[in-house]
Amino acid sequence: MPSPSALKKLAKEHGTPLFVVDHAELRRSYALFRKHLPRVQAYYAVKANAHPAIVKTLFDAGGSFDVASFPEFMIVHENIKHLPAKKRQDWIWDKIIYANPIKDQHTLEQLDQYRPLVTYDNPVEVGKIKRHAPHAGLILRISVPNTGSVVELSSKFGASPAEAVDLIAAAFKAGLVVEGLSFHVGSQCTNFQNYVQALELADGIFKEAWSRGYSQVKILDIGGGFPAPYDPHVRPFAELARMLNAEFARLFPANMEILAEPGRFLVATAGTLVAGVIGKAVRGGKPCYYINDGIYGTFSGVLFDHIQYHLKAFPPASRKRPAQICSVFGPTCDALDTVSVAENLPDLDLGDLVYSENIGAYTHASSTCFNGFPPAKVVHINV
Ligand SMILES: Cc1ncc(COP(=O)(O)O)c(C=O)c1O
Repeated sequence: MPSPSALKKLAKEHGTPLFVVDHAELRRSYALFRKHLPRVQAYYAVKANAHPAIVKTLFDAGGSFDVASFPEFMIVHENIKHLPAKKRQDWIWDKIIYANPIKDQHTLEQLDQYRPLVTYDNPVEVGKIKRHAPHAGLILRISVPNTGSVVELSSKFGASPAEAVDLIAAAFKAGLVVEGLSFHVGSQCTNFQNYVQALELADGIFKEAWSRGYSQVKILDIGGGFPAPYDPHVRPFAELARMLNAEFARLFPANMEILAEPGRFLVATAGTLVAGVIGKAVRGGKPCYYINDGIYGTFSGVLFDHIQYHLKAFPPASRKRPAQICSVFGPTCDALDTVSVAENLPDLDLGDLVYSENIGAYTHASSTCFNGFPPAKVVHINV
């Protein structure tokens, strides 16, 4: 993560709001994931932050990719378009999964020529894939407990475990090939029991599928959910990995292919935002600061991703003046544009800078131009 003085220097050079992406941190997170989960192939969930430079760094580090729209597929494809046809196709088979269980007809038609792995979770999707992307390989997504995860996903996606093998049978009957199972325990999952329960469910489904003759079903995709260290109470990744490795060894044969789709974990700590104070007032006795980025910009994650980002002041203000509870608002005319009603900041002046760490995932990705305020400028360091 860049030091406060490095951030200040970048803000002076580029202006604010400034979204700083540290590629050394991206490489570090990817290496950490691989080190602690050596059996697991890491498919970066591009939706967390689809900036092509981020995809390129993870591509160069040897990463694989989870895409969930055709434009995301093409961002990844940009890195392999120069390869000879066979090599390119092998790379797609090995390193891309299209992990959106619901795909429109046009997307399926566009995808078919690339013959990727795609997820599905219902019989209507089987018919659609058969008609519009018959060359795709299938992964059945099952619904699993998302208890306590910050972003719940199982109410929207996932076949119930009870109907899983019938859905596998339906796909084979349609002439498609099901290659594996996937699940998602919910994003920012700090309740590690969700993974344990999901692995138990997957194990039962594999056994039933194999007993019914579907031996091609042999990939296990454990999805995303790996938590970013937003707060000190988030237990270390190494602890989750130890639990996962023990469960893999207990439940699955050594030759089972295991993959994961980490988004947040790989990119959250690589992003830092620097914003400037553009207004201040006292309302109901409470200091209020207005900064030049907000809920419609990089702090969109507060709303869409349910994460509360904290703001820090730079020295000397942070050293010399006592901190007090204040509200922080974004620059638009909408009262929804409230970054926080409980920040702990020293008295700030117009033009002072503040910064927010660990803000790389599901933030800049969902920025808008609402009210005429464009998303923060992006600068890449340690590329
Ligand atoms: C199918 C799928 N895979 C992976 C991810 C990434 O999850 P996370 O950022 O929690 O790792 C998501 C996030 O929504 C998802 O929907």
